[in-house]
Amino acid sequence: MSAEDISVNDASPADADAEEAFFRHHRPGPNDARAAEMIRVDHAGEYGAVQIYRGQRAVFDALPGKARLSNLLKEMEDGEQHHLAEFDRLIAERGVRPTLFAPVWNVAGFALGAGTALMGEKAAMACTAAVEEVIEKHYAVQAEELDTAADPLAATVRQFRDDELEHKHTAEENGAEDAPAYGLLRAVIQAGCRVAIRLSEKI
Ligand SMILES: [Fe+2]
Ligand SMILES: [Fe+2]
Repeated sequence: MSAEDISVNDASPADADAEEAFFRHHRPGPNDARAAEMIRVDHAGEYGAVQIYRGQRAVFDALPGKARLSNLLKEMEDGEQHHLAEFDRLIAERGVRPTLFAPVWNVAGFALGAGTALMGEKAAMACTAAVEEVIEKHYAVQAEELDTAADPLAATVRQFRDDELEHKHTAEENGAEDAPAYGLLRAVIQAGCRVAIRLSEKI
């Protein structure tokens, strides 16, 4: 069998996509361009996360009897602000261009937070659990890739991953999974997050 016989030229587009994704995640660590993508998308994600919690608090701050919930959301929002500040610093330090989608995530994040809060306390928690789950997995994959490149950013990403996991658990402890149509809500929100991640890495 010659090398041509096992070339990927005959592979279907789906196979080619799967292969490209595999190598993107398994090549030996990020170069500068890949590290810049990571910082850009993480910066965008933290910005979006702050906006989601702001949107949720805008609703619950205005409702009676929701002080405990508002405080809980404020604590998590403060965590996202801390994450955002770190990525703001990294954007400046490494000269990374922020995503052009920032104005979109600004509005979309707030709308997602406010919209789910208007559906009720459990729907708001379902939104938090769904978003944090995607971000936690996203950070876990990044941490591995950064480890391979011995990039000190790995430690930051791993710490933030733990924080997001804690946010997810908080949301679950507060009834996320009891939200009406939880499965559907989760699927729609997570699909949106994944699109936002893909767009913010590159653009
Ligand atoms: Fe965060
Ligand atoms: Fe979080």
